[in-house]
Amino acid sequence: MYEQTSKLKRIMDERQNHKVFQGTFKVYCVTSGKGGVGKTNLSINLSMVLQELGKRVLLVDADLGLANVDVIAGLYPKYNISHIISCEKNINEIIIEGPMGIKILPGASGLYEMANLSVVELNLLIKAFNSISHDFDIVIIDTGAGISKNVLGFVQSSDEVIIVTTPEPSAITDAYAVIKLIHKYSQKIHVIINRVDNFRDAEYTVQKLSNASRKFLHTDIDYLGYVLEDRSVLKSNMEQIPFYARFPDSLASKCILNLGRKLLYGEQKPIQYNYTFEGWVKKLMAFLKN
Ligand SMILES: Nc1ncnc2c1ncn2[C@@H]1O[C@H](COP(=O)(O)OP(=O)(O)OP(=O)(O)O)[C@@H](O)[C@H]1O
Ligand SMILES: [Mg+2]
Repeated sequence: MYEQTSKLKRIMDERQNHKVFQGTFKVYCVTSGKGGVGKTNLSINLSMVLQELGKRVLLVDADLGLANVDVIAGLYPKYNISHIISCEKNINEIIIEGPMGIKILPGASGLYEMANLSVVELNLLIKAFNSISHDFDIVIIDTGAGISKNVLGFVQSSDEVIIVTTPEPSAITDAYAVIKLIHKYSQKIHVIINRVDNFRDAEYTVQKLSNASRKFLHTDIDYLGYVLEDRSVLKSNMEQIPFYARFPDSLASKCILNLGRKLLYGEQKPIQYNYTFEGWVKKLMAFLKN
């Protein structure tokens, strides 16, 4: 009985905290075809750059298989999204503070259950997300590799997608396969070429992708930029401190700063969004439910 009362109280609290979304914000989903190309490293460090550039960033760890934002960032989250659904915790108790003040929503196992949520649970989650929507300008979603149903859900519920690839032929082929699958849903597809030796390699790689996308899919991709091969990435992973914090003067850090600037200021024709946090959650749930 006590448990039920406290559950009810928590639901009421969530409702009280609920505020109507004001302002605009963007959801970027970071994905790839091939695994291990650098998504998680880029998601964390890009989030830090965007935060440093004045945005309030929420990083969602949506790699359902091997969630590892926390490992790379040296964090030890106790709770994840499933604790909102079970009413054990409210969303503010789950979100943890990451490096440079970014906020992180640990996903892990809880997200598996999203496909089987009841209407009540769904509403609870939407309300929870909405109660924090005014706290963020940008949401970055780090997904697992490949296009599983869950990854597709995140891609479809985001407006913009960031595809990470390396210059390796198998990674490029897999990146193209993802573009082929998602180009109809995504308003904008950005591409980052990671682990390149120089900018020419990156341009050569992106040229191949954009030629194929234009020719066969009639889709233009946005080349966001590149990140150089840099041992500081591995070293920072070993120390569990993101490279932008641990080695701010490294080549990888300079590249990621450029990417952040391009993402925020580099758009020639900004897309007008009529988009809310609640809208994003609804789209995501609708997809997972189907
Ligand atoms: N620019 C880089 N220079 C050197 N090493 C890099 C670079 N980017 C990533 N790495 C290394 O690549 C490996 C994979 O990185 P990461 O975990 O970020 O990839 P991922 O795409 O998230 O992998 P998964 O598909 O398993 O989620 C790590 O060991 C990391 O140190
Ligand atoms: Mg990863």
